[in-house]
Formats: sequence, structure tokens, C-alpha cells
Amino acid sequence: MKLAICPGSFDPITRGHVDIITRAAGLFDRVIVLVLTNPEKRNTFSVNQRCALIQKALQGQPGIQVDAYDGLLAQYAHKVGACAIVKGLRAMSDFEYEFQMALTNKKLNPALETVFLTSSAENMYLSSSMVRQVARFGGDIAAFIPEEILPDVENVLKNKQ
Ligand code: PNS
Repeated sequence: MKLAICPGSFDPITRGHVDIITRAAGLFDRVIVLVLTNPEKRNTFSVNQRCALIQKALQGQPGIQVDAYDGLLAQYAHKVGACAIVKGLRAMSDFEYEFQMALTNKKLNPALETVFLTSSAENMYLSSSMVRQVARFGGDIAAFIPEEILPDVENVLKNKQ
């Protein structure tokens, strides 16, 4: 059984994330969407909120679980027996950072491969921080966020401004 992890901050999950996770689920037997701590970022949504939003956005999709972990991705992957990390690549600007993380994870856990899926063309520009910024200045985020969770995301972002 091939288990993959789709890791990230998911602050919040976007249509771009859903696209990558859905495609990963088509390649592996089981996928864990893992909410991790990125020490470079201050998050807007709590871990519980991010997990609940992911759960709701992916509801009904078989073979996908959601979890959170405050530690190293390589350690978590070892613990659950995952063979791969799946990440989306949007543009060349993502590459250096993602390449560095992939090599670090490989060093920490040599059994773990990182697989990059190219972002779908319509999501090339999309990021959680861009969504938060648009919402902050009163813009419409409906095109960026899965419709099942749009009211929840708008609600949290409205109360954070
Ligand atoms: O969505 P992001 O913020 O780009 O995802 C980055 C994330 C959370 C996957 C990365 O920061 C991470 O793996 N954090 C867990 C700690 C860890 O394992 N760091 C070593 C990898 S270089």
C-alpha cells in the first residue's frame, strides 16, 4: 500500500491545494494531508481551523485523511510509513525553496521521495497569502477558495482584520 503525504501550512486551503491533493490521491493508495508548522510564517487560522477547513473541502473524497503535526515532516513520514511527499510547483520561484526542502527531507529520511506535480494553469498564481491579502482589503475571494468552505474562510478573515 503506497501512502503519500501532502504537507503544508494551508492557511487556508485553496483551490490550488485541492487540485494537487486530488491528483495525488489518484496516484497513491492513500494520502494524508498534513498541517505542519512553517517557522517562517505566522498563521492566521489555528491548526484546528485549518484541519476542519481541509476536512470540509475534501469531504467525500476516498483515501484522503487529514492530520496535524508539530515536528519534522521526515519524522512523521517515518512514523506512518509514507513513501512519498507530494507538493505542487507553481513557478520557477517555488523551485529553489522546494528543492532545498526535498533534499533536506531525503537526508533526514532516505526512504522518502518528494514528488512534484505541476500546478494546473488556472492556479499558477494562487497562494494562501494572496487570498488573505485580497480578503483584507475587501476583495472577493470566491475564485480562490473551494465553495464548500467559502463562508467559513470569509468569516474568520473578516474577524481578523
Ligand atoms: O505551505 P508551506 O508553508 O510552504 O509548507 C512548508 C512546510 C510546512 C511543509 C515546511 O515548513 C515543513 O515541512 N515544516 C515542518 C518542519 C520540517 O520538517 N522542516 C524541515 C523541512 S526543510
